[in-house]
Amino acid sequence: MDSLSNFNVFMPTKILFGIDRVSEIADVVFDHGERAMIVTYEDLTGLEKTVERIEALLEEGGIAVTKYTKIKPDPGVEIINKGAELANEDGCQVMIGVGGGSAIDAAKAIGVVAVNGGDAWDYAVCNPDVKKYDTSLPTIAIPTTSGTGSEVTPVAVITNQKIKSKGAMSNPVNIPKTAIVDPELMRTMPPGLTASTGADALGHAMEAYISVKATPFVEPLSLEAIKLIWNNLPIAYREGSNMMARANMAWASTISGMMLVQSGATGNHSLAQALGAHLHIPHGVGVAIGTPVFLEYAKIEAADKYMRIAQKLGMETNVDGFIDNVRQFLKDLGLPTDLKDKADKVDMRALVENAMFNAPAALVNTPREVTHRDMDRIISELF
Ligand SMILES: [Fe+2]
Repeated sequence: MDSLSNFNVFMPTKILFGIDRVSEIADVVFDHGERAMIVTYEDLTGLEKTVERIEALLEEGGIAVTKYTKIKPDPGVEIINKGAELANEDGCQVMIGVGGGSAIDAAKAIGVVAVNGGDAWDYAVCNPDVKKYDTSLPTIAIPTTSGTGSEVTPVAVITNQKIKSKGAMSNPVNIPKTAIVDPELMRTMPPGLTASTGADALGHAMEAYISVKATPFVEPLSLEAIKLIWNNLPIAYREGSNMMARANMAWASTISGMMLVQSGATGNHSLAQALGAHLHIPHGVGVAIGTPVFLEYAKIEAADKYMRIAQKLGMETNVDGFIDNVRQFLKDLGLPTDLKDKADKVDMRALVENAMFNAPAALVNTPREVTHRDMDRIISELF
């Protein structure tokens, strides 16, 4: 430590990490109830066997199962509200999110609405009339991608299409009771999804590290997660069945999620959420596009931290060289670096306004102040 500032550590999720840990699901659920809802995707391509197996394991273990397979990427408030209605009709006591961030976030959000009633958007932090709550149904998270970290965070991102905004429910009661992080479930992730979710994990680790709220707990663990991602994501992208790379990515993503809980994301996540709400850009792709741009934006304020990351990655370079290396790393994963092909589809003013509105906490974590004018300039340069 090189300062005497006080800080908190908050990490309440029990993590079962490793190959075939999913086989323990019935025992995990049994601690919370005998009737569970599996929340997963409408399009289960590649996950059919995983969901079938979880359902069978639960039934063998004496757990009654309701399956809610309506989740789409960036789940809308209507889907959450309907899920909550079904959970109450069937008397579900536990939510099990199976999939990427959208499925796990939906499970958390359904648990909130099932217990507290109303509409999912009532609980979004950016809603000026946000309702308070202090209880939810317990959630078990089973990630099948390695990126969002949702399995260990209090955040559930939901989309309100009426006002074209994403927003986050964020409350300690949303934090999953248990996360089963089983790298075997990630084996079938296609390369594009491996790249975009991995870029999200890299964003979480870097943003938590660079955040003005970073603590002596966050700094070494974020650096470790960045190194794991740097060394393993290109391998997982090229050879999906390399289980060492998959396991390292799964662990890096989990650490990155835990770091996000401690010190938060930065303006890059505000931008990524706005790109998702306005242009349907997948979250990880939005994070990848914004990462070098936001590194560039705060390169004077965060120069020392960039150099510490560069050193951890064995780079002998300066701040600009470090940013170029990050840009190239993301490019080599087939991820886009700008949005020039979307220029004719965007309402620039609404996009900028939304980026300033949807995640205010992330904006203030950025080491350099982000004004409306700055966000306008950052976004304009991408198109
Ligand atoms: Fe993210």
